[in-house]
Amino acid sequence: MDDRIISGEKLEEDFMDQNIRPDTISEYIGQEDAKQNIKVYIESAKMREEALDHVLLYGPPGLGKTTLANIIANELGVNLRTASGPSIEKPGDLAAILSTLEPNDVLFIDEIHRMPSYIEEILYPAMEDYALDIIFGGDGNSRSIRINLPKFTLVGATTRIGDLTSPLRDRFGIICKLQFYTDEELSRIVERTSRVLQVPIEKEAADELASRSRGTPRIANRLFKRVRDFALVEGNGVIDLEITKKALGRLKIDERGLDEVDHQLLLAIIQKFNGGPVGIESIASVIGEEVTTIEDVYEPYLLQQGFLKRTPRGRVVTHLAYEHLKIEYQNSIFES
Ligand SMILES: Nc1ncnc2c1ncn2[C@@H]1O[C@H](COP(=O)(O)OP(=O)(O)OP(=O)(O)O)[C@@H](O)[C@H]1O
Ligand SMILES: [Mg+2]
Repeated sequence: MDDRIISGEKLEEDFMDQNIRPDTISEYIGQEDAKQNIKVYIESAKMREEALDHVLLYGPPGLGKTTLANIIANELGVNLRTASGPSIEKPGDLAAILSTLEPNDVLFIDEIHRMPSYIEEILYPAMEDYALDIIFGGDGNSRSIRINLPKFTLVGATTRIGDLTSPLRDRFGIICKLQFYTDEELSRIVERTSRVLQVPIEKEAADELASRSRGTPRIANRLFKRVRDFALVEGNGVIDLEITKKALGRLKIDERGLDEVDHQLLLAIIQKFNGGPVGIESIASVIGEEVTTIEDVYEPYLLQQGFLKRTPRGRVVTHLAYEHLKIEYQNSIFES
């Protein structure tokens, strides 16, 4: 599962991709609404010479949250400090990071929904009053001192906004939902990657790759590299439509970007549960995946494409999915 090529989740080789990650807002393709607003907020913060309000970025893996956090710091012209929710275990860990901040810096906390709740409580005054309350002693004999921090911007990223407590969510002045990218935007991302890596790709090939990338730049870039491998070894080094189709076929990625696991998931609901509605736990146990993995990684794209529907009684496979899988639609007795 971790090696699933079309998973939006990070894989080992993605960590070496710093050079294909855009670092200015003008190079950041798509997300037009979020981008235009953030541009204004950054400009305003710079004019006021103040810290940008705290920003929460959320959306499925691989849509560009980390990239955008980097760009925000870069465009503000400030330092970026990075931490991830689960890595902040002790109050001292957070204090150590906060104490390195200079005025108007950006602190990026990835997977912020996985931060322990006692850390969250230290973060509240830090976000609101730019202060750190340190408590000494205990057992009715405790006292606390307050340390003032420079004004800073917290940029939080999460794939699961529902898992954030509302007091934390409410402390973000700017909340941005990242959307799946259109094929046209992904095609531009692929062409940009091709320029950066200096491996030419023909326009039709870029479009084909884009349409099979599940609306996700990380997947588009990953597929680009795999197609490049096939072009080098089994083609003439140029990424054209033919080698692209051949490579994607070999990777078992269909015309809509679904892979074997997606097929397995949809087929399981159709064959074992008469198309649904069926609870996510039952689906998870039939296909042998974690519920959270299905919810975060597999489902969002299937829902967005209209292959799957969420109903109060569970997940239902749609007409569209039957058509796509070339299976005759069976009228479920639970038709919703
Ligand atoms: N708008 C964009 N334009 C160009 N490339 C992009 C864009 N967004 C993302 N990318 C590319 O996709 C890759 C994945 O993006 P990123 O790591 O920012 O996703 P993420 O939302 O932080 O994912 P995760 O939830 O797994 O942390 C980046 O390395 C970058 O190259
Ligand atoms: Mg990220």
